[in-house]
Amino acid sequence: MYEDRIRCKELLKKVVSADEAALLIKDGMNVGTSGFTPSGYPKAVPLALAKQVEEGRKLKINLWTGASVGDELDGVLARAGVINKRLPYQTSNEIRKALNSQLESGVVNYQDQHLSHTPQQVRYGFLGKLDVAIIEACAITEDGHIVPTTSLGNSPTFVQEADFVIVELNTSQPKELEGMHDIYIPNDPPNREPIPILKAGDRIGTTYIPCGPDKIRAIVVTDIPDNVRPLGPIDDISKKMASNLINFLKSEVEAGRLPENLLPLQSGVGSVANAVLAGLLESDFENLEFYSEVIQDSAMDLVDAGKFVVCSGTSLTPSAEGLKRFNEKIDFYSKKLLLRPQEISNNPEVARRLGVISMNTAIEVDIYGHVNSTHIMGTKMMNGIGGSGDFTRNAYLSIFTTASTAKSGEISSIVPMVSHVDHTEHDVNVIITEIGVADLRNKSPRERALEIINNCAHPDYKDMLLEYYEQALVATKGAHTPHLIGYGHDWHKRFIETGTMKKK
Ligand code: COA
Repeated sequence: MYEDRIRCKELLKKVVSADEAALLIKDGMNVGTSGFTPSGYPKAVPLALAKQVEEGRKLKINLWTGASVGDELDGVLARAGVINKRLPYQTSNEIRKALNSQLESGVVNYQDQHLSHTPQQVRYGFLGKLDVAIIEACAITEDGHIVPTTSLGNSPTFVQEADFVIVELNTSQPKELEGMHDIYIPNDPPNREPIPILKAGDRIGTTYIPCGPDKIRAIVVTDIPDNVRPLGPIDDISKKMASNLINFLKSEVEAGRLPENLLPLQSGVGSVANAVLAGLLESDFENLEFYSEVIQDSAMDLVDAGKFVVCSGTSLTPSAEGLKRFNEKIDFYSKKLLLRPQEISNNPEVARRLGVISMNTAIEVDIYGHVNSTHIMGTKMMNGIGGSGDFTRNAYLSIFTTASTAKSGEISSIVPMVSHVDHTEHDVNVIITEIGVADLRNKSPRERALEIINNCAHPDYKDMLLEYYEQALVATKGAHTPHLIGYGHDWHKRFIETGTMKKK
């Protein structure tokens, strides 16, 4: 039964099979889809498209999404060699392989973008014309507008800018999601106006994506569920980092630099982020607000406990257990959770106005506070910068966490010089490892180096870092930012050649 979900009755005649809809996608097209952190992405049409290619259809497309999407989109299309260019974020093993090497099925050219930038770049025309938007929906309104599902991402701008729209009406997504979204697309310069969000929970837009029946070329009905990821257990190192972070926030309250209920929190995804939010659950903090990107199980726990009074994001990405809980209590959660386009959830203007506290994870940081969030050993793309840059530069207080070592201790996450820079020393306020907290505020590069090495480095690497710093100080005769030019990446070179950053 899907007919009651298509409330604009003239659209019933546009219901087609996934195969028919996939044939609307032609070689060379720019295709924008819904989906953000394996949530709310189309599945039936890409699966059909991949099958057509396996059976001999020849085509390549450029694929734009909100952020990462599930295997039924990224995975199948990468394996079929369909993707020419991919943006703005991914976490797929298949895409990662394709963009870091020359696979037989073809290279994926990847553009890693700040997630708040993508929709405006689409509207500015920087990425070329968007041909088709494929959007997962839980309903279509009487006027032919689209009620999205568990993520919003870039869908509003994609629908506005595309020549035509294919809707994947997913009957496994509850109808009760309607009302959870707040959709607002800013005007472009020179006519942009202030975004009128003054508090994390303010609603400023519509509950549907404006579209209209004429723009919808096809509707595909499916019930394929999101390929949600299980959450790993929280390990001891993550617990220690979370406890260091929470103690730091408490000390900021005591020092009078943060109010008792803090300021709206932004949290990255993954095990550390999960541990931090789990730590908040056990803390004395109350009346907290969440103005972030992704809402995971741990945020739902804080809503359940009454600790999060507002929970705003662009995607709801629970585990299978979390999804079950969400569906059972959907009326409760849909009043507490709010989904916005990623241009608004990650908006620099809003983050700075609200005074967001950003908490993201680094791959590595250097002794002066530069952060690498994306590249393994400076060359291989991991996932992408995601929203970390949107929030970090504009936060009231920007925090990065990382375990002090990686790969069973053979890599130090604190290095003399990062092998790739995503966040500069100017943007990073605080670095936290399981060892301790480095507060970089009001410090020169030389002061920052000692703060980071002494408080955050693993004991196995601390003396090596001090030695590098002292030699650089002598070699540069006390330069503002002492470095041994030509040797800053020796640690990475040693790991690549010997499998460890330690000196033998
Ligand atoms: N050198 C080399 N590899 C490293 C490393 C380092 N310094 N630090 C971590 N790694 C490897 C880990 O070994 C692991 O590899 P594996 O998958 O082969 O086991 C991988 O990187 C991920 O590390 P993990 O410790 O599991 O961290 P995570 O899942 O918390 O992810 C990031 C960390 C940085 C990759 C992830 O947070 C990310 O993609 N961030 C960028 C986007 C972002 O911040 N989004 C949120 C904004 S709202």
